Amino acid sequence: KDENGSPPPPSFKEIISTHPTENGWKVFQHLCFYQGFWCFPLHLKGAMFAQHHFKAQATDVFLCSAPKTGNTWLKALSVAIVTRNDNSNNNLLLNKVPHECIMFLEKDLIKNPTAQSDEGRLPLVATHLPYTALPKSILHSGCKMVYICRDPKDAFVSLWHFARGKSNFGPYWDHVLGYWKASQENPEKVHFMRYENLLTDTISEVKRLAECLGYPFVRIEEKQGAVEKLVNLCSLQNLSSLEINKNGKYGDAERGINNNVYFRKGKIGDWMNYLTPEMGEKLDNIMEEKLSGSGFTF
Ligand code: A3P
Repeated sequence: KDENGSPPPPSFKEIISTHPTENGWKVFQHLCFYQGFWCFPLHLKGAMFAQHHFKAQATDVFLCSAPKTGNTWLKALSVAIVTRNDNSNNNLLLNKVPHECIMFLEKDLIKNPTAQSDEGRLPLVATHLPYTALPKSILHSGCKMVYICRDPKDAFVSLWHFARGKSNFGPYWDHVLGYWKASQENPEKVHFMRYENLLTDTISEVKRLAECLGYPFVRIEEKQGAVEKLVNLCSLQNLSSLEINKNGKYGDAERGINNNVYFRKGKIGDWMNYLTPEMGEKLDNIMEEKLSGSGFTF
């Protein structure tokens, strides 16, 4: 048995060969359907590794999201919140793309299994895994989670720009519902956020996020404008103008992702520039059907 008390997993090759696969928009990589969600083999390997070897600390907070729903922003804000009084780390966002500031569960752990016990690592871990696929130790350790969701039409258009590709970690409705239900059952542990609220009511949302992360702003900080300062630091305009995000790369120096692709428009309703009202309505109807009875609507 592994660290999470589960029997050893079947080999990765076995899984890949027995589960349905389909082409994503990234035509050079297919998607594999595993435990109810679509995943690139590379991430799936990392996800399976994390499911069997990750040991959550009770003090960790998990930043969870489906792709293109605002996780770069959520990471930036959370990093800025937890490091704001920490001299050794408070320039982190100026030198690294937000994705490199914290551990990405299904990507980083398999590359560096000891990363989880690195002294000095921030108490934040990011994941795109659906709620039902999280390593058991996350659910058992009692650690907190923050989930961010976004209007599926904007997330869809954002993904199209990013990958020219299809929805990995989807279906999106299942992704949202898993965390929505968990937040309803356990609001103290699972903090549910919407990109749109973060955009329209940034200050209050960031204060609530700081409380959830266990780093609330104290009155004197608020008086001195610390919340506004942090919000400005993490704004799309500021982050996208930093040298590291303009010209830097995330991951592998040659094949890595250009950091600038993580920052595009950051608007509500950009889908209207790409989808017809009929296409939007079609997507709305699918969502309505899939979410019906859950108490959640976009
Ligand atoms: P658009 O493509 O609609 O502009 P993710 O971070 O989950 O990949 O999501 C990407 C979306 O978040 C992109 O949306 C991107 O522009 C937006 N985004 C990135 N950083 C942001 C920030 N600091 N503030 C607001 N939106 C941000």
